[in-house]
Amino acid sequence: MNYELPPYPTQFIDVWRLRDGQRVTVRPILPQDAQPSQQFVRALSQRSRHRRFHAAVNELTPAMLERLTRVDHVRHLALVAERVEQHGTVLVGEARFVCADDPRRAEFAIAVADDWQGLGMGRRLLEALLHAAAARGVRHLAGDVMRDNRPMLALAVRLGFSFGSPPAEPGLVRVTIDPLAACADSDRTADQAAPGGRPRPTGFATGAAGRVVEKSIHLPGHSMFAAMTWISSFTGLAWPRSR
Ligand SMILES: CC(C)(COP(=O)(O)OP(=O)(O)OC[C@H]1O[C@@H](n2cnc3c(N)ncnc32)[C@H](O)[C@@H]1OP(=O)(O)O)[C@@H](O)C(=O)NCCC(=O)NCCS
Repeated sequence: MNYELPPYPTQFIDVWRLRDGQRVTVRPILPQDAQPSQQFVRALSQRSRHRRFHAAVNELTPAMLERLTRVDHVRHLALVAERVEQHGTVLVGEARFVCADDPRRAEFAIAVADDWQGLGMGRRLLEALLHAAAARGVRHLAGDVMRDNRPMLALAVRLGFSFGSPPAEPGLVRVTIDPLAACADSDRTADQAAPGGRPRPTGFATGAAGRVVEKSIHLPGHSMFAAMTWISSFTGLAWPRSR
């Protein structure tokens, strides 16, 4: 089969130090990540796989592997976090967006290996994906999240996503954001932050993303506490969390 490699976007390569001091390399996916991607998916817990794929997926089919690793880095961009170990590369996180026919609209998905969750990687992957999506001209990024997926819903609140209901999907919450507006917000916050401070998006940016959400549900307040209380009532889960 002929396959011409699209230009590799090296600007998205980075090395991150996680909350526990471990380092991972983050980079756009490559076709040779097919086997590591399969191992990544197989190693996820059943709950994480279900939350990622919304189905009882144990492993990826060859067609899915091909589709997920041979990407054009423009309309389909995937970032993987990897550890280089003695026996080769191990993927510990991935986040991607895939554009619709209208290249300004895209859907995202994200997963972090179970042993690596809670270290800040999900947040950084999603922030990096927002920057990449903004750079590609995406103005409406959406993801469907299971209603009981508290970590993902909390992460979405943190990053300023708006919440809505996908039509005819009672078990899911649709989270949406305008990546360009979100990045402008976080850049402004970084500019205002004290030297050495961690850039964090502020507020919940419901204005920017709210415009494009069908049946938009607005958060009843502009504090993290109000947002978490709102999510708890929505999902039936108690807050504060226990990890
Ligand atoms: C959702 C997911 C990607 C989060 O990744 P992560 O690396 O664990 O997240 P982080 O450590 O960056 O945490 C980011 C935020 O999420 C929230 N969060 C993380 N774990 C949480 C938990 N167990 N309970 C509640 N909130 C949690 C917090 O708000 C946290 O912000 P903080 O660090 O400022 O407190 C990860 O749990 C995952 O891969 N889940 C399985 C797949 C999935 O659900 N994908 C989403 C489908 S769209």
